[in-house]
Amino acid sequence: MSEPIDVTTTVKVAMPTTVAKAVAVPMDEVLQIANKWKKKRGSLIMALHDLQGRLGFVPRESAMRLGRAMGVPLARIYEVVTFYNYFKLEAPGKYIISVCTGTACHIKGSKNMLEGLERELKIHAGESTPDREYHLQAVRCLGCCGLAPVVTVNGKVYGKLDTMNACYVIERVQQDKPMIAAQEEAVAE
Ligand code: FES
Repeated sequence: MSEPIDVTTTVKVAMPTTVAKAVAVPMDEVLQIANKWKKKRGSLIMALHDLQGRLGFVPRESAMRLGRAMGVPLARIYEVVTFYNYFKLEAPGKYIISVCTGTACHIKGSKNMLEGLERELKIHAGESTPDREYHLQAVRCLGCCGLAPVVTVNGKVYGKLDTMNACYVIERVQQDKPMIAAQEEAVAE
């Protein structure tokens, strides 16, 4: 993996808090998914598909929140999740790295960044490293296009990245270290 670099002016970050200990999709994103799908007939599968797209699996806590927001019993959600092989209830890696390939991020170079991360981690998008430390995936618009190109690590959003500073962010998250102060200031711009 690349050495840490000075990303003072380029990285806008949401601070990592706990890492990979209680991974869940943020509540506002769960509500967005629920609002998008709850009025559509037979939409539970699509909502779960959307939910899994955020982290590569369906965390129990997020499934409960989704159920409450959509008015669907948790038992019904688990019935669906366990019926279809596509859905995963376990994290596919300790660090789930999602690279947004939506239009705004694509224009700002997310394809190159994804390819760079594939080289660094020696896996392709959709795969996990053999030790299941990292899982890399390409996702659609994460709803924060102003920060394009965007990467999330275990659901936390990091923006305006390239391959090198994406690697740096991953290293910091892995070490459970916050970003440097200048980067925090960048968030507040
Ligand atoms: S296109 Fe990447 S966050 Fe919207």
